[in-house]
Amino acid sequence: MVKVLFVCLGNICRSPMAESIFKQLVQERQLSSQISTDSAGIQGWHVGKSPDRRTLEVLSEHNIETSHVGQKLSVADLTTYNHIAVMDEANFEAVYNFYYENLNATPPARKLFLIRDFDPEVEGVQEVQDPYYEDKKVFRKVFDTLRRSCNALIDYIVEEHNLTPEEPAEDEYSD
Ligand code: 4NP
Repeated sequence: MVKVLFVCLGNICRSPMAESIFKQLVQERQLSSQISTDSAGIQGWHVGKSPDRRTLEVLSEHNIETSHVGQKLSVADLTTYNHIAVMDEANFEAVYNFYYENLNATPPARKLFLIRDFDPEVEGVQEVQDPYYEDKKVFRKVFDTLRRSCNALIDYIVEEHNLTPEEPAEDEYSD
């Protein structure tokens, strides 16, 4: 199983949105038995809480539901996950330092990266904007950015880990 963790600051806006989009794309591509995903925050402010209402609303505009509950990035996460995708440079620095302090090594680039490294439409700053103090329009923009990036990340994972989509379940009524 290839394990992917999305990380942002609070784990209520961007990373639960990324996790939910990614999960849906993985399902659509018949890869659910080979790729799993979760999300976590650098800070523990919203541990145990549901995602931000605006994240839930924008996901629901795309018929995506989530039952994610806020959690803080743990030391165990650093070794459990094959890939840790962060939203912005501050997240990157925080996870990089956390990794270094706890594992006495620097995280390989294929393990820790900015999710927008995979965005085919990136212009300039490779960050997913923090939408917390913004309006719903920004949450919608974050959704589009994350969907583009997650699709490309799946392409990369399929190639890197040599995955092939599952055969569709046999139709019991066919010959
Ligand atoms: P997130 O956004 O990192 O995308 O979940 C934020 C959520 C909460 C806060 C900041 C950013 N906060 O200050 O509580």
